[in-house]
Amino acid sequence: VVLILDFGGQYSQLIARRVRDLKVYCEIKPYHIKAEKIRESGYKGIIFSGGPNSVYEKGAPVCDPEIFTLGIPVLGICYGAQLMANALGGTVAQSPVREYGKTEVAFQQDNLLLKNMQAQSVCWMSHTDYIAAAPQGFSVVARSADCPVAAMEHVDKKLFAVQFHPEVEHSAEGNILLKNFLYEVCGCSGDWQMSSFVKAAIGQIRARVGQRRVLCALSGGVDSSVAAVMVHKAIGKNLTCIFVDHGMLRKNEGDEVEQVFRRQFDMNLIRVDAGERFLSRLAGVSEPEKKRKIIGEEFIRVFEEESKKLGRMDFLCQGTIYPDVVESGTGEAAVIKSHHNVGGLPENIGFEGIIEPLRNLFKDEVRRVGLELGIPEKLVWRQPFPGPGLAVRIMGDITPEKLELLKEADAIFREEISAAGLDRSINQYFAVLTNIRSVGVMGDGRTYDHTIALRGVTTSDFMTADWARIPYEVLDRVSTRIVNEVKHINRVVYDITSKPPATIEWE
Ligand code: XMP
Repeated sequence: VVLILDFGGQYSQLIARRVRDLKVYCEIKPYHIKAEKIRESGYKGIIFSGGPNSVYEKGAPVCDPEIFTLGIPVLGICYGAQLMANALGGTVAQSPVREYGKTEVAFQQDNLLLKNMQAQSVCWMSHTDYIAAAPQGFSVVARSADCPVAAMEHVDKKLFAVQFHPEVEHSAEGNILLKNFLYEVCGCSGDWQMSSFVKAAIGQIRARVGQRRVLCALSGGVDSSVAAVMVHKAIGKNLTCIFVDHGMLRKNEGDEVEQVFRRQFDMNLIRVDAGERFLSRLAGVSEPEKKRKIIGEEFIRVFEEESKKLGRMDFLCQGTIYPDVVESGTGEAAVIKSHHNVGGLPENIGFEGIIEPLRNLFKDEVRRVGLELGIPEKLVWRQPFPGPGLAVRIMGDITPEKLELLKEADAIFREEISAAGLDRSINQYFAVLTNIRSVGVMGDGRTYDHTIALRGVTTSDFMTADWARIPYEVLDRVSTRIVNEVKHINRVVYDITSKPPATIEWE
């Protein structure tokens, strides 16, 4: 096990993720953990994360100085590097040129930490301060034009530090450096597997919950599904899942969720068919934020009503994943649209605690866990689907008829994308029922019917996105099928806007 000491850097979880990718298990702890505790835990190595502070700032986070004498290898990154330099008698100063972004760094060759790295490669820098002089006994093993100590080491004391961020993708050889630190310096064997994580996490849940009961809001999305199955493996029937079907799911989706969780996993699943209730609350409402608000509130109401019937529940299980933690951590951002996550429930239902087994994982890791748990591929690879569902894909007011049209058109689009083998390369794709009617001709008659818009995007983080270059033949098949098979749709258009300036969803 490797320890990551968190000094408040934005990449701490990314470091953890890289370490896991190298098949080494790691834990993240706050920076003030005592050296004695670290010794007792028997960590094979320690990585100091970056952080937003300057070592000279009042109240800047510092670690227990005894850590440097434990004999456990330490790798300091960015702030972590400056902290090490400062603690051991080196000089940290404000750099005359602030380095930010891709930077050429020259590396010493024939060095254990830098083994197999080129003499020069691009690294990601992001710092205002720098190490002006390494502490006594340290040798400088990398430099950039504006950074005299891009990496330093004291091999005998097993102390290493890098000013750049080896954990980010833009550091071309960062992964090699981390690998060298873990395998060569710390002597990790790299045999940790996702299955070990799953096993350990299940054990922890079992120990924490004991004989008490857990409630979970299941949406059928990847995150809540994986979290629920994990808790189910830990405590079986002491988990109850409430699946609120608000009627605005995609075609057959409600039944599919029920099939997997009740039939395959034999879980306690309560499906609440609340479609009519939601529709009547939404009748005549066409303003996007208002729709979202109504669905969010109604969802909570239905969930509370159902959970009351179950008697005392001790814990709430949520499918929070690491990017959610980051996103909700930034209180400053403008509200573009009020995302509603079906997992986003009020905290006052009176639980003893929240169980979030996926809190430290990235999306692709969650998928791996899902496969590990035996969840069907179709569900594991399910594309994201907004909490308010098809309600935000019907422009204007929602009626049962419009909902039906959209479900059918969307199902055809999805079928054809899968048939063309594009369902993994296009990250999200769906149909939108626009609020436009237009004139068409069918047979010998005039039609005046709905326009369906198709949306397909490629993206890695859903924060920015490009429109997917779906082959014309596929678009052609989709369009032909929709106008032929779905009554009252006589026109199909394809959305060719990126995000920004558009968003992925239309509302
Ligand atoms: P936008 O439309 O903001 O969407 O570009 C970004 C991603 O978020 C999804 N989305 C939601 N997910 N609750 C969710 O859980 C919501 O209310 C919600 N609204 C949008 C959207 O589908 C896309 O993947």
